[in-house]
Amino acid sequence: MKKGNPLERYFYDNKGRLIHKWLHYFDIYDRHFSPYRGKPVTVVEFGVSHGGSLQMWKKYFGRKARIIGVDINPECAKFIEPQIEVVIGDQEDRKFLRALRKKVGDIDVVIEDGGHTMPQQINTFEVLWPAVRDGGVFLIEDLHTSYWPHYDAGHKKPGTFIEYSKDLMDQINAWHSREESLEVNKYTRSIKGMHVYDSIIVFDKGEVTKPKHKRRGTPTLSQPRTDAP
Ligand SMILES: C[S@@+](CC[C@H](N)C(=O)[O-])C[C@H]1O[C@@H](n2cnc3c(N)ncnc32)[C@H](O)[C@@H]1O
Repeated sequence: MKKGNPLERYFYDNKGRLIHKWLHYFDIYDRHFSPYRGKPVTVVEFGVSHGGSLQMWKKYFGRKARIIGVDINPECAKFIEPQIEVVIGDQEDRKFLRALRKKVGDIDVVIEDGGHTMPQQINTFEVLWPAVRDGGVFLIEDLHTSYWPHYDAGHKKPGTFIEYSKDLMDQINAWHSREESLEVNKYTRSIKGMHVYDSIIVFDKGEVTKPKHKRRGTPTLSQPRTDAP
């Protein structure tokens, strides 16, 4: 029995079209994507390159999956095959992204592995997030470009995806804010979870309502504190 999860095994055995991935990503992919295997899911990958990863996703998600690759390079159109569609366009362009959203419909899994610049990442997240179905996921990778000067980025530099994601973390907690600078918005109501890894963030989509708390059990202190938990 070979070691590793099904994606890792596929990757190491791959003699077909080139796939380029950081090795620690496979564990993260399988952790977040395995519930969708064998289901009739729509998967969109930004960044087609040599076409190898689209075939890997087809094998991993199974016969019922619809796999859509998006790339700016028109040459990538040749990777169309049963179950695999390719759409050519610039992921920095919100107009293109809106048209893509219309064309593709609801999405279960987004894998964002395109050009990795800050405007590409932010625009793609903002336009495609509403297209992700409740119960779906949006995985964005190679976020280390947020620290690289040649991507017009750097540690704590405003405008990087990492800084943007810190604001989303605030938004998730906005229910508890007492300041006008942080109010509940569409992200508060739709990001069920945000999983932060080295170079990857995975967002879980789903309806979020105002959190509630309750007490159960017998008080045991003579002077119970009355402040919120
Ligand atoms: C990192 S490679 C993709 C690797 C591939 N997913 C894999 O796993 O082997 C990045 C791809 O993003 C594409 N890309 C670069 N800028 C883009 C843009 N503005 N819009 C869409 N795709 C872009 C490039 O043409 C390239 O094919």
